[in-house]
Amino acid sequence: MQTTKSLTLDDLTSFCVRRGFFFPSGRIYGGLRGFYDYGPLGAELRKEVLDDWWYYFIRQREDIVSIHGCVITHPKTWEASGHIEAFYDYLVTCSKCGKNYRADHLLEDIGIQVSTLTAEALSSLINEKGIKCPECEGELSTPTPFNLMFTTYIGPKRDKLNEAYLRPETAQLIFTNFRDVYYTMGMKLPFGIAQIGEVFRNEISPRGFLFRLREFTQMEIEYFVNPNKLDECPLFEEIASLTVQLLPAELQEKSVDTPVRITLQEAWEKGLIHSKWHAYWIGESLRWLTRIGIDLEKIRVREHMKTELAHYALQTFDIEYYFPFMGWKEIEGISNRGSYDLKRHQEFSGRSMAIEDGDELVIPYVIEPSFGLERILLALITDAFKVIQGRPVLSLNAGVAPIKVAVFPIVDKPEFTRKAREIYKFVKKHFTAIYEEKGTIGKRYYEADEIGVPVAVTIDGLTLEEDTVTIRFRDTRKQIRVSVKELTQTLTKILQG
Ligand code: GLY
Repeated sequence: MQTTKSLTLDDLTSFCVRRGFFFPSGRIYGGLRGFYDYGPLGAELRKEVLDDWWYYFIRQREDIVSIHGCVITHPKTWEASGHIEAFYDYLVTCSKCGKNYRADHLLEDIGIQVSTLTAEALSSLINEKGIKCPECEGELSTPTPFNLMFTTYIGPKRDKLNEAYLRPETAQLIFTNFRDVYYTMGMKLPFGIAQIGEVFRNEISPRGFLFRLREFTQMEIEYFVNPNKLDECPLFEEIASLTVQLLPAELQEKSVDTPVRITLQEAWEKGLIHSKWHAYWIGESLRWLTRIGIDLEKIRVREHMKTELAHYALQTFDIEYYFPFMGWKEIEGISNRGSYDLKRHQEFSGRSMAIEDGDELVIPYVIEPSFGLERILLALITDAFKVIQGRPVLSLNAGVAPIKVAVFPIVDKPEFTRKAREIYKFVKKHFTAIYEEKGTIGKRYYEADEIGVPVAVTIDGLTLEEDTVTIRFRDTRKQIRVSVKELTQTLTKILQG
């Protein structure tokens, strides 16, 4: 098996559009930057990943419940959360052509990686490097903060009083519902509240296909822990021996970019990860990412440096995936938000956020695993994109593959197509499946391989004689013969690995 080393972002984008995974939103009108719609295969892939996340982090656990909050949120939420004050990027505008740029992206484009800097620092770097407008060489304005929240109005009056925001993270809905969930569900610390949903960020310069979107999906857990018990984690043993590639802040501050290979146990013992609960959530996230098919060798765990920590965070680790066309990029962030959010909501709402833990009354700390769905899908597709014996194959894990089974008559003749349609009909009751009778069987296999179908069922001469079919495997191209009676059972076994 050979991976496509030269895979570019353009290759991947055109593949995803051509094979019906994603379409630029409003494509017939020229598209809308930063917005992609899911096509039929993308929508199935999305559902598989969301369902597995929901199962893994909510349904099979005893300590996590879910909510589903509103997209348009009470404006006070974002005053309390600090987003109105602090959720911005720096914007520079060309004085000649009027084009807008994100200041740090202009620097990134000439190879200077910046974590959050002040307006002055960005401005002097832009001047020092003589950066001009990449479009027309015009002079650029000084960087000014630009708030990333989309604004809308509630009711008919479009004035300041009726202004509201589309949520830029799902997390705040968990904090504003915290008391209600705690009391109605009788939760006991430690416990988590999870949510999946769309969020909106008015990015200055969306880029990287699905990587930086203006509308995207978060899968977030806020895990509440007694602040005095951050190292009392009964689940720690489950992940302690997992070896990760960790890039601590202190190495980055010395300009070292090479991670250390270390177990989560050692990382906690050495104080690189400040608490056992934080280490647990890093490990548990990695276990899920591996489960859906992401190669752990292409993952590193990078700590945020002090200068790049979000306004609410005490310690943050990004789970970064190595994209061959853009390097290491965040697909999930895992922050210790302390009690920042609950304290702020307590202050702004006047409602107590303190809860009981035995004899103690505490405002819990929060560890937050925050997964970006579209970034994870981009990593999954990138990881799965292979060339096998000269042909493109999307080698997706069977658990998340959008179509599980392809059903083909060996040739397009009524005796075969009649039987094949019959089999397709019952296979479809159990698995997402496609049927095709036109073209050579080889060509149909290759088409199915390209969209990641793990197995193909072929109806041939022997099927009519002895009621058996062949099952052909996408990745090995091997074939086995099974009886039609046992087909559903066999496919279930294969697809569950
Ligand atoms: N909730 C974390 C984030 O949106 O980045």
